[in-house]
Amino acid sequence: MTGIEQRRILNTAIPGPRSAALQARKNAAVSAGVSTGLPVYVERAGGGILVDADGNQLIDFGSGIAVTTVGNAAPRVVERVQAQVADFTHTCFMITPYAEYVEVAEALAELTPGDHEKRSALFNSGAEAVENAVKIARSATGRQAVVAFEHAYHGRTNLTMSLTAKNMPYKHRFGPFAGEIYRVPMAYPYRWPTGPDNCAEEAFAQFTSQVHTQIGEENTAAVIIEPIQGEGGFVVPPDGFLTRVADWCRDNGVLLIADEIQTGFCRTGDWFACDHEGVVPDLITTAKGIAGGLPLAAVTGRAEVMDAVHPGGLGGTYGGNPVACAAALGAIETMKTEDLPRRARAVEALFLPRLRDLAAKYSQIGDVRGRGAMLAVELVSDPAAKTPDPALTAAVNKACHAEGLVTLTAGTYGNVLRFLPPLSSPDHLLTEGLDILEGAFAATV
Ligand SMILES: Cc1ncc(COP(=O)(O)O)c(C=O)c1O
Repeated sequence: MTGIEQRRILNTAIPGPRSAALQARKNAAVSAGVSTGLPVYVERAGGGILVDADGNQLIDFGSGIAVTTVGNAAPRVVERVQAQVADFTHTCFMITPYAEYVEVAEALAELTPGDHEKRSALFNSGAEAVENAVKIARSATGRQAVVAFEHAYHGRTNLTMSLTAKNMPYKHRFGPFAGEIYRVPMAYPYRWPTGPDNCAEEAFAQFTSQVHTQIGEENTAAVIIEPIQGEGGFVVPPDGFLTRVADWCRDNGVLLIADEIQTGFCRTGDWFACDHEGVVPDLITTAKGIAGGLPLAAVTGRAEVMDAVHPGGLGGTYGGNPVACAAALGAIETMKTEDLPRRARAVEALFLPRLRDLAAKYSQIGDVRGRGAMLAVELVSDPAAKTPDPALTAAVNKACHAEGLVTLTAGTYGNVLRFLPPLSSPDHLLTEGLDILEGAFAATV
């Protein structure tokens, strides 16, 4: 840890005057297209705390969108990065390679689902990994169509924006989009028209029917799915849905791409969310939690699929940068040594009863869901009609921020409050954060 006292401190209003001054400079220098959810300017962070420019100490329930799972400035990450940055910072793996890239690929082969032979390719961002997974799937199958789900989020580049479901803010006015992408219903238990009990079976039936009638199995290269949807609102498909999709893919020569960019690396209480049901994808995309905050992403998959691509077909100047790889090795060592999957399950055990108590008190909480340290509540104005309530969601979120708790929203309808604390956060901060959340509901509803 970074020697930061694990205590919430509010010296000023949130944001304080120094942050406000920086935000004014930001508005004059940074594109308006890049917005900030909570404009406190961070100077240091560690454990479960963010320290801002005004000396306020905020409780972090966001982990920089599920990135600092091992904590900010985690000691093993810092050590490895410092050593690496002093040795060399870049050669380009495609020109003169280095061991750290290979070590990350070896770790991915060991940790990702399935004990088949695997290969990896490293990139800089989640979107870049998803783009490359699609390239690899098309190259390996000789087919073009890619199936994505409602409420999906896969990134903001042209191809990944096309895979992403939600218009605002991700796609609005940014077309035309990439071709050969088809969307099918997601198994979303809370909103399934005939009820959660029918969700897995009916969603699977709609999926197979739409692929058969609108695309053709033999034209389909891949199905891409987040095992728990992230930006779409922490939608957890019912048990059995992923397994059915995986079996169908295998039976039809279609590759299953699990996008574990948000769910991966211990976040959901397993190393990967696919482990929950024993699903073994053909390709898996990872990023975010992989490197403790440094930009790194990967595609890992069956050796024969990954090796189907012609030499030179994959790469990029910075992909698998040595400093980012060193950070990943430090982060992975931390996850293993500190048994972070277990810690994520402990976070779930601490959060879920509190969130369920809140839901019992406030009928506006229509659903409590998630796994491990990836949890959410969905807010509705009319519980019977399940009418999304984005205004209440924004108000509760804002009330949390004002009290020094960093919360995030999500969801196709903007009505989901999501919780992604770093796994380095001590219990007392998690409990205090939940107290603040409860106070925010009391003050807002
Ligand atoms: C499931 C998923 N896929 C892809 C991405 C895109 O990752 P990046 O923002 O690193 O490009 C994200 C980011 O939130 C994500 O949650």
